[in-house]
Amino acid sequence: MTKKQLRVGLIGYGFMGRTHANAYTSVGHFFESGHAPELTAVCARDGARAKAFAEQWGIKSVETDWRKIVARDDIDLIDIASPNDTHEEIAIAAAQAGKMVVCEKPLGRNATESRAMVDAVEKAGVANMVWYNYRRVPAVTLAKQLIDEGRLGRIFHYRAKFLQDWTIAADLPQGGEGLWRLDKDVAGSGVTGDLLAHCIDTAMWLNGAIDSVSGMTETFIKERTHTIKGGMQKVTIDDACAFLARFANGSLATFEATRYARGHKALYTLEINGENASIFWDLHDLHRLEFFDHKDEGRTRGWRSVHVTDGDHPYMDHWWVPGLQIGYEHTFIHQVADFLKGLDEGKPAAPTFREALATDLVTDAVLKSAETGRWEKAT
Ligand SMILES: NC(=O)c1ccc[n+]([C@@H]2O[C@H](COP(=O)([O-])OP(=O)(O)OC[C@H]3O[C@@H](n4cnc5c(N)ncnc54)[C@H](O)[C@@H]3O)[C@@H](O)[C@H]2O)c1
Repeated sequence: MTKKQLRVGLIGYGFMGRTHANAYTSVGHFFESGHAPELTAVCARDGARAKAFAEQWGIKSVETDWRKIVARDDIDLIDIASPNDTHEEIAIAAAQAGKMVVCEKPLGRNATESRAMVDAVEKAGVANMVWYNYRRVPAVTLAKQLIDEGRLGRIFHYRAKFLQDWTIAADLPQGGEGLWRLDKDVAGSGVTGDLLAHCIDTAMWLNGAIDSVSGMTETFIKERTHTIKGGMQKVTIDDACAFLARFANGSLATFEATRYARGHKALYTLEINGENASIFWDLHDLHRLEFFDHKDEGRTRGWRSVHVTDGDHPYMDHWWVPGLQIGYEHTFIHQVADFLKGLDEGKPAAPTFREALATDLVTDAVLKSAETGRWEKAT
């Protein structure tokens, strides 16, 4: 089959730059498509480091200004893997230049930015997608299949948390490389837009729209040195956030995220309780789905731990033999595979910018509720 080349301009070579570069490089070895991605250029502000990255990943060219990559005729797709304050400007410019755009989450620093990005890609009619990769963990996709098949029945409860502990030290600075997540101007918000955005995207994908929220946030360390502005500066991001939510389907939810849960590095868990069955998933054991089915025969009824590695499990027929598990990096490969499939079939790949905007509306409502002390509409 003659494949259509998809020439990618990758912006950012950090944590996500590496996961994306790996995904474009690997996808064609495991998934069939009429489109073949090629990493054509990488852009980052530090030319020497971008060049080293390009050599490591076999990328032909390097730019240090994203405007140049967006203007190039030999690029079809702009992939935004840079910090949150860059997303809006790059995405809008890329769409106006007629490029397809894929963007890291959260889409914007707030829903106003995200809405402008949605308008730009829809006006330009270009393919677009946001990297909410946890949807593509096979066990989470299996949960979606079971819910859509009605195996849980009416859903009563949704419970999610995402716990880390890397900002407890009071002498950790804010701002700059590796620490931009602590700087509100760059990140938009703290754990709400960073960690809870993932939980919210998965939750709405599995259980439908969130109608209203009531949240609380805290900033435990009030001042930190700022690596760019210099001196001690006020910390204005939320270090921790917990919120209650009502879904449009009538179910109740609790969400919690923090970077102050000593001992936890990336504990993302979700639990869903339905009339007939319950589901539990834990990122630390990402290849397992815990499933309780009340219809099971009484004496042996209990929680089953499904090892999601068999050929009839989502995505797994593309990988090894049954029983051998895959990991975190594969979720990004699956996301590229689904994007390419969308291009083959002329269909959007989820979540589109518009679908990801819904998450930013929820995070905005949570932060507003934390200020007003009232329930806020999330749509
Ligand atoms: N999907 C996920 O699970 C996930 C995980 C981590 C981060 N993210 C998101 O990915 C994005 C990047 O996060 P990260 O952890 O990779 O950050 P990082 O700090 O590791 O890397 C950021 C990269 O962006 C580059 N950069 C910064 N400003 C730039 C500019 N103006 N022009 C060009 N390049 C620029 C930096 O040089 C660096 O290469 C953020 O939006 C973040 O929220 C998503």
